[in-house]
Amino acid sequence: MKFLEKFNFIFLVAGLGLLVTAFITLGLIPAMMTKSLGAIDYHPTEIPDNFTKHYSTLEEYEAALYKGRDIYVKEACWHCHSQYVRPVGNEALRYGPVSTPGEYDNSLNLPQLFGTRRVGPDLSREGGKRPNDWHFVHLYNPRDVVPQSVMPGYPWYFDKEKNPKPEAVALVAYLQWLGSQVEQTGQPVADGE
Ligand code: HEC
Repeated sequence: MKFLEKFNFIFLVAGLGLLVTAFITLGLIPAMMTKSLGAIDYHPTEIPDNFTKHYSTLEEYEAALYKGRDIYVKEACWHCHSQYVRPVGNEALRYGPVSTPGEYDNSLNLPQLFGTRRVGPDLSREGGKRPNDWHFVHLYNPRDVVPQSVMPGYPWYFDKEKNPKPEAVALVAYLQWLGSQVEQTGQPVADGE
């Protein structure tokens, strides 16, 4: 032990050095590489047909997308759902085209919601996969449509008659938007192999 103590100072310097290196390589460099620090503002160009009944102006629809994203973050949907189709394990067959960096380069994808684990399916191509009504029922109580589901229900986004409140509509607007930015930002779509 005495022998090791002689090197205390070196260990301290090495430890701090590694900390700084990690900060630079895992923090600063990726931040500089993803242009996302100055991501382009996302503005929808039209209200999709399935939302014209809920929103009359583009501004309202746009505000709903951001609100839906905020609810998705607040409810930690990202804890069980990823938004990143990886180029491995035939994921593209299940979820759609492999994700490309550019599709995250817009303000609706800040913060990027890659997620932490995959208890449920990847949602980066969820838009258009299912009708709005399916989403409302599923959000109220997932087991009404998927009996074996372990996803929690979110009944507080519905009124007494089980009609969706504005928050639920905004969340579903966001879910139905997911994936559409691939075309809208002119990002090349990777081959689904
Ligand atoms: C505890 C983990 C968990 C949480 C939290 C969670 N989910 Fe899920 N989710 C699942 C599982 C598991 C499934 C697959 C079974 C099913 O469809 O219910 C699923 C399915 C889904 C689907 C259907 C995907 C498809 O097309 O098959 C959507 C949409 C969805 N979740 C949205 C959400 C949203 C929005 C939130 C947050 C409000 C959320 N989930 C929170 C676990 C979770």
